[in-house]
Amino acid sequence: MALQELKQQEQAMSLSQRFAEDPARFSRFCFAFGEHMRVDLSRQHWSSEVLALLCELARNMKLRPAIEALFGDNLFNHTEGRAALHTALRMPAGASAALNGVNVVPLVHAELARMRTFCERVHAGDWLGFTNLPMTDVVNIGIGGSDLGPAMVAEALAPYQDKGIRVHFVSNMDGAQLASVLAVVDPARTLFVISSKTFTTDETMTNARAARAWLLAACDDPAQVKKHFVAVSTNGPAVQAFGIDTEHMFEFWDWVGGRFSLWSAIGLPVALAVGFDRFEQLLAGAHEMDEHLRHTPFEQNIPVLLALLSIWNINVLGLQSEGVFPYSHHLTRFPAYLQQLNMESNGKGVDNAGEKTTYNTGPVVWGEVGTNGQHAFFQLLHQGSQVVPADFIGFARSHYNYPEHQRKLLGNMLAQAQALAFGKNQPQVETELAAEGLNAETISRLAPYKVMDGNRPSTTILCDELTPYNLGALIAMYEHKTFVQGIMWNINSFDQWGVELGKKLAARLITDLSSDEVTTTHDGATNGLLAQIKAWK
Ligand code: F6P
Repeated sequence: MALQELKQQEQAMSLSQRFAEDPARFSRFCFAFGEHMRVDLSRQHWSSEVLALLCELARNMKLRPAIEALFGDNLFNHTEGRAALHTALRMPAGASAALNGVNVVPLVHAELARMRTFCERVHAGDWLGFTNLPMTDVVNIGIGGSDLGPAMVAEALAPYQDKGIRVHFVSNMDGAQLASVLAVVDPARTLFVISSKTFTTDETMTNARAARAWLLAACDDPAQVKKHFVAVSTNGPAVQAFGIDTEHMFEFWDWVGGRFSLWSAIGLPVALAVGFDRFEQLLAGAHEMDEHLRHTPFEQNIPVLLALLSIWNINVLGLQSEGVFPYSHHLTRFPAYLQQLNMESNGKGVDNAGEKTTYNTGPVVWGEVGTNGQHAFFQLLHQGSQVVPADFIGFARSHYNYPEHQRKLLGNMLAQAQALAFGKNQPQVETELAAEGLNAETISRLAPYKVMDGNRPSTTILCDELTPYNLGALIAMYEHKTFVQGIMWNINSFDQWGVELGKKLAARLITDLSSDEVTTTHDGATNGLLAQIKAWK
């Protein structure tokens, strides 16, 4: 294909040459999202010619109608017989998103109104526990999409947590996490939010039952459970069977995938932490990105360009992973959130026609906040044998009055992208070493280790400030990148069958672990390890 033919030509041109030959490169490849966000794609190994061909490919893949379908009736998740309509969760009241002829936006807003009333009650100190005291702590129990989104956003918006509510997140099957949270909260003033789309996920139900037992140990009255437990789910009967009043259940719908559910009642802990108005600002930012996706030509469409670039890097240039490096300590959970969003969505090897894909799909996504990552693994990014395209995410203004920190933080972010792109060549290294007074022999011995080839691609996403609105837009941008990648790869980004086998096998192994008898029914390695666990138990 034409893109493959461009590969050599594009690779022959270094980033330094591209900038030297085209002084307007930054302005041609830096894209604006409203007044608050800029996405700089100029330090990628591409040209206007590549971009045009990628956009043509997108048109051939019928991306425009696919985007339109994301805002109404669709069957993107055909293996589960479900639509993907998370965009409806952030549409303003009065908008319309029809599913099987029914506009779902009123349903969404009815649930948002219930959330608002509930949050306001908790904030007003009007939701009382078993000793008639108001709540001070909220513990969200959920995993995957029922944890990563709200946990990431609650932390990202920490400067906005001014409602007198501390939020905690428990997800792991390791009881250590539940124990560490229960150790710092007071049962009389703690509200548990049990978040699970299915209300069957083993980690969540195990943690929820243990939390209920902990509460009962303190109050010794099952009638009090309803004052301390609410649920967010699509499964009313299971919520009721657990003992939570369905009046205290917040609903979402099967057309919302777990990893796209942050905008639904799954965001309840965020709203409890930062207030409902700010939760609405988060939704507004995401909606604005939806509008951008829907109405902007591909050539300036930020999520489309991010996805097409990723296709170019993965399928043409042969790169295998993508790094994401937020230069904001409050985005510490952002890489983990993106991992689920992208890897659970696009880690697929069978296309929409049921055929094995003959091309690479979802990359390994990983990352860490700056500047911490710089002192850990950035060595590999700069001089390792693998090239990892990096996303740097930064904010011009900080919420904290440490101007020196902020200058240094941003200076470091800009420096990393600069070093990756332009490196340091042999003559520069030799000049530096000579200036240090080293002799010729030492210079020639050390120089190869200090040369940085540069020419390594990165994207910089710059916002004015980490506000709820900007965060909503940023997350929706990555959601849409993920969606567009899926369309281009012709895969279903909305199922996750690959996680099922492990769940089934675990159930059998958990049963085996409850007996002391020697197990011989598994493969040799599993039998051996089971025997060792039983010996050490
Ligand atoms: O096992 C994967 C998964 O189904 C994710 O897709 C989902 O976000 C997570 O588990 C939690 O599921 P639930 O919200 O139903 O508990």
